[in-house]
Amino acid sequence: MGRVAFQNFATAFPLTRPIARLRSRQLFDLIAGFTYSQTLVACVELGLIERLSRTPQSLQALALDLNFAENRLERLLKAAVSLKILELTSKGLYDLGIHGAALIGNPWIAGFIKHHHLLYRDLADPLHVVKGGEGLTELQSYWAYTADHHGQETRPDDVSAYTDLMGQSQTAVAREILNAYDFSRHRHLLDIGGSNGSFILAAAARHKRLGFTLFDLPAVGQIAQKRIVSAGLDKRVSVVEGSFLADPLPDSADVATLIRVLHDHDDQSVEVIMAAAYQALKPDGALIVAEPLSGVPSIEPVTDAYFGLYFAAMGQGKTRTAAEIAAIGQKAGFSSARVVATQNPLITGIVVLTI
Ligand SMILES: C[S@@+](CC[C@H](N)C(=O)[O-])C[C@H]1O[C@@H](n2cnc3c(N)ncnc32)[C@H](O)[C@@H]1O
Repeated sequence: MGRVAFQNFATAFPLTRPIARLRSRQLFDLIAGFTYSQTLVACVELGLIERLSRTPQSLQALALDLNFAENRLERLLKAAVSLKILELTSKGLYDLGIHGAALIGNPWIAGFIKHHHLLYRDLADPLHVVKGGEGLTELQSYWAYTADHHGQETRPDDVSAYTDLMGQSQTAVAREILNAYDFSRHRHLLDIGGSNGSFILAAAARHKRLGFTLFDLPAVGQIAQKRIVSAGLDKRVSVVEGSFLADPLPDSADVATLIRVLHDHDDQSVEVIMAAAYQALKPDGALIVAEPLSGVPSIEPVTDAYFGLYFAAMGQGKTRTAAEIAAIGQKAGFSSARVVATQNPLITGIVVLTI
């Protein structure tokens, strides 16, 4: 397939022509992907998605409202239509396309899109990132716990941006986890790296008899505590501050969750975290690991290309297969592991480990 003569033949021959065209289109998508994502960034930053969710608008009205030259704006709108972010109606008005409409139902995606400018700046030199070259990356500054060893010296200001982003996107993750795994068989849940409490608040609404402990770095714990008090849940939820790399975990739980935590860390730290969870759990306890899993065919570009380069830029972490998580869990003391299917593995997969 690398030979020019074969490529020319495949394009000219009627039976292979559709495949040749599809392959060259797919290759072009790889080459052009950055312009596609930047088109989306421009639409989100201009507030176009939000604006068009209220009512379709003409080019002239949009240009006036957004203080944009019509011919310049039209270029962006055409790009967005071609990518199905927007759609041009039969009346010549711009409306949301299928991808733009999906952003309305999932407002947290806009937060993810906006924070990608950090990743893109780091990836301006992809080889430097992949080789793990010298110097702090933008993403390492954003995820404050990667910059120093345990993140314990961080202040609320250092963690508030990533904590907000995690809290917003937790809506989708919590829905997947709570639909896939029945927590009603448990008495007390420990959410390790529980961020601002978004998962616990969703679980508390679903399971009225479950008690909760949230464990996170001190700066994040303070944010969580305020949120839990204002939700009126401080009698059901306690917050414990510390580092899961250095401190023992609270031992009142029979189920612990590690949601989007392990993939942030290298294998050695993952073993420390899982061993701490093993020590903390009751003898009949279960550990629920929830994050996108490698080795799931439909999402390989997400786990291996997107997260692969993302974690390279973060300076630590990787996505793992369920078998890799089970193997580290076994070293940490867990006797068995099983995968629980979720509706959308791109949002999260689940591995349940038992003692
Ligand atoms: C990627 S976020 C995931 C948050 C949350 N579980 C979720 O899915 O929304 C990772 C969380 O682990 C916490 N974390 C990182 N290092 C930690 C450490 N050494 N000890 C305790 N928590 C830590 C972070 O503060 C953050 O809240």
